[in-house]
Amino acid sequence: MAKVVSHGNAVSKHDGKTDRRRDILGLKELPQPERKALFRDAQTHAPVLSEAEKQLLFRDGYVVIKNVVSRQAVENALLVCDQLSTQNPGQPGIGTQDAALVGLYNDSVFTEIIEEAIGPHTLPVVGFLAVGMGPLPPDAPMPQCHVDGSYAGLLHLKHSEIINSGQDLHTWGTRDDPRMLGPSGGAPLWQDQHSRLSIGSFTAFCGVCLNDQMQPGKGQFSVHRGAHNAVESFFRMQRDLGGPLGPGGPMWPRLRAGQNDTVTAGAMADAMVESYPSQPFDHPDWPWPEVTPVLMDAGDGVIALHSCPHMASPNLSDDPRMNIYYRIRRARGQNPHEGNRKVGWGASDHPDRAMNGEFLDDSEYGDDWDPFAHSIDCLCDHWQEWDGMQHIVQAAKASARL
Ligand SMILES: [Fe+2]
Repeated sequence: MAKVVSHGNAVSKHDGKTDRRRDILGLKELPQPERKALFRDAQTHAPVLSEAEKQLLFRDGYVVIKNVVSRQAVENALLVCDQLSTQNPGQPGIGTQDAALVGLYNDSVFTEIIEEAIGPHTLPVVGFLAVGMGPLPPDAPMPQCHVDGSYAGLLHLKHSEIINSGQDLHTWGTRDDPRMLGPSGGAPLWQDQHSRLSIGSFTAFCGVCLNDQMQPGKGQFSVHRGAHNAVESFFRMQRDLGGPLGPGGPMWPRLRAGQNDTVTAGAMADAMVESYPSQPFDHPDWPWPEVTPVLMDAGDGVIALHSCPHMASPNLSDDPRMNIYYRIRRARGQNPHEGNRKVGWGASDHPDRAMNGEFLDDSEYGDDWDPFAHSIDCLCDHWQEWDGMQHIVQAAKASARL
């Protein structure tokens, strides 16, 4: 198995052959220094977060990185997006392995920023292109902020069928196959074989903005600012009550009843949402003050914690919102599947399972390695894997003890 853990100047290995399906512009043919230079220019952000940016990340659960990639990198990415949308009509949001898109993380200072902030990590092999089409009317329904990683979507089962089978909406699925994937988003019903954990997780949600999103209402990636601490507290409460963690666990019903005997999975727990702090964003062009639009220009980046509730807001403009995202998890020393391509590193929100939902080979796990128990630990202590944030975390703990 190829290990592609980023450390120092290491980057994803490739076989040296050009694959135009994944390298439309031929970037992989360039020597590494020349390729990396394409993603940087005179305005590019430093390869580490400033102290002020780290303080914002700690307080808000996310931070914007100005100019994380060069203008040239944005133009190249837009060219590739254009070709991909021609090849995949009707699928504006697609996973992609193209070098011009994965390179926005792997070949830019983004890798170095995250390596300093969290530590070594498996580089993404795929990014996720998210296009928000508009214009939608200002009274368009606002989706609820969510935390990534849980089985979601409209079920094929009817509410009455579930009740008649003797199950209930809160604990539905407890006896079902943990390999079952959600109707949308592809997250497994349970992360582990023993139904202790129903939500996948990672360390940092990283995005690169490909067009002007400085004006509220352009379909921005949006967050419930500062709610990451409430999410962490909720997971601790679930653990303290004996679990499981995630939907189906304490205070978090797995399913919600809809109209016409339907049921859906994936809603956040009311008790969690009610504990979010009020951080209104007031702007005349922003109809949803309870959430904050992340204002970025082309070439800017964003880092958000896994526990930061977020959404794609409705796009009120006629300019498609274009971002590309990578889900990054700090390398876990005892994990034999760091770099295993089955995981779908970069796109997957359940990296202790294969991207297709299969269980990974556990024969290489040492006697003391339980990946799911470790993920539970991290959900309940979300700064645990942020090496470069520890001085701020420890200072906050010390000040809380005063
Ligand atoms: Fe999400």
